[in-house]
Amino acid sequence: MEFLCQLSIISLLFGAMVFCQHEGYDFEDEYDQEPDDEYSTILHFNPSVEYVVPHFPTPTKCAQECFCPPTFPLSMYCDHRKLKMIPNIPFHIQQLYLQHNDIEAVTAQSFINATTLREINLSHNKIKSHLIDHGVFAKLSNLVQLHLEHNKLDEFPFPLPTTLERLFLSFNEISRFHKNALRGLVNVTMLDLCNNYLDESLLIGRYFSNMKNLMQINLCNNRLQTMPPDLPFSLMYLSLENNSISYIPENYFNRLPKITALRLSHNNLQEVPYNIFNLSNLVELNLGHNKLKQAFYIPRSLQHLYIEDNDIESVNITLMCPYIDPKNVNHLTYIRVDQNKLTAPISTYAFFCFPHIRIIYYGEQKGTISQSTQLRTPVFHRFLTPEEYDEVEDGHEREDSHERERDDYFHPYFY
Ligand SMILES: *[C@@H]1O[C@H](CO)[C@@H](O)[C@H](O)[C@H]1NC(C)=O
Ligand SMILES: *[C@@H]1O[C@H](CO)[C@@H](O)[C@H](O)[C@H]1NC(C)=O
Ligand SMILES: *[C@@H]1O[C@H](CO)[C@@H](O)[C@H](O)[C@H]1NC(C)=O
Ligand SMILES: *[C@@H]1O[C@H](CO)[C@@H](O)[C@H](O)[C@H]1NC(C)=O
Ligand SMILES: *[C@@H]1O[C@H](CO)[C@@H](O)[C@H](O)[C@H]1NC(C)=O
Ligand SMILES: *[C@@H]1O[C@H](CO)[C@@H](O)[C@H](O)[C@H]1NC(C)=O
Repeated sequence: MEFLCQLSIISLLFGAMVFCQHEGYDFEDEYDQEPDDEYSTILHFNPSVEYVVPHFPTPTKCAQECFCPPTFPLSMYCDHRKLKMIPNIPFHIQQLYLQHNDIEAVTAQSFINATTLREINLSHNKIKSHLIDHGVFAKLSNLVQLHLEHNKLDEFPFPLPTTLERLFLSFNEISRFHKNALRGLVNVTMLDLCNNYLDESLLIGRYFSNMKNLMQINLCNNRLQTMPPDLPFSLMYLSLENNSISYIPENYFNRLPKITALRLSHNNLQEVPYNIFNLSNLVELNLGHNKLKQAFYIPRSLQHLYIEDNDIESVNITLMCPYIDPKNVNHLTYIRVDQNKLTAPISTYAFFCFPHIRIIYYGEQKGTISQSTQLRTPVFHRFLTPEEYDEVEDGHEREDSHERERDDYFHPYFY
């Protein structure tokens, strides 16, 4: 700690912010020469000398505009400061927070020393693709997380460092995509591209399948008319809400056996191949706000099914569950079917097929006439064990339990 203070005092000479709780201590014995600046202090630091506390002498140098907390000396906070430019980033900084500013350009000059950066948050700025210096991110050979959501990008940033693991690009205007943009990004696990101007022509031939560690891709609120091509085998979470997808090819998921959550609400699906969701890891399936008329095969693993706001007149349980295997029962616990054209509750046969069912949310149904109809029981709760009953009762202050259930499930959708 004393050594840190010593460094802080040196830093003070260079105009950095200092937060030191201990008295400065004279290290004259160890330091017989005054270092030129703190950078060289580190380089001249002799690891063979035994100091009491600091194994990593962390310089407290910080850009003037920013704040580097003494407790997180590797982080630099420059968020919410109306900055128009990225400050110069000191060598030791690993986490850089620049969200909520007015930054338009990403200049190589600011990053010239920033070789240890691991995380950059540049979300909620005004960054334009043509004002990003070519290769500025690619040079950061330790970068694992990059936030660029809520900017003015019209092109997928390229090139990026191959170390990258999480990339956030939602709420931009991306409508261009370099052919090799994804090619080296083998370590990316999370790619968020929601709310852009992507159509399928931009995704074809983009080497998505090279991203062998990709677990989650979000493509919601774009302009896709078909399912995205060439997704990697590793994918578990696929979000395609609010596009214009009208069909799913018969064998689409053959190459995606790990799919756990699939979100396709707000599309134009009228029918889907009967077996299409026969995926042994599928837990959540959201097909709400489409034009489906017919049910489909429900895999054993599925727990949550959303098919609200479709054109379903009757839910054919025999189709969903063609046979019952008492040793391998279905896991379905929740169905949301409001805003369909149901005139009667789902057949009680459902409870043999889906013995774990807890809630069927009927809500309001779209009437055949202009008026909407309501089934006698808008929310069906299965007979519950005393423990389950208590649990439901406890949660009853929150009136609409379907929302609760939905929230409970939606949050785990991971990052
Ligand atoms: C980069 O580091 C060098 C050596 O410490 C220093 O002289 C220079 O001012 C730094 N440049 C920026 C842009 O921070
Ligand atoms: C980055 O900024 C966004 C706000 O735009 C925030 O939600 C997110 O938590 C930030 N990430 C980190 C790692 O600070
Ligand atoms: C990907 O991650 C692994 C494990 O962290 C690492 O060993 C490898 O070097 C990374 N690949 C690239 C291209 O950075
Ligand atoms: C769907 O996306 C469009 C933009 O592509 C947006 O304006 C609209 O609000 C979104 N609708 C929903 C239901 O999210
Ligand atoms: C679902 O897939 C399994 C193999 O993964 C197959 O044995 C089974 O017949 C399929 N079920 C339906 C209804 O297609
Ligand atoms: C449900 O679907 C099966 C198989 O297509 C069909 O034989 C049966 O008549 C349907 N049942 C109802 C009630 O529509």
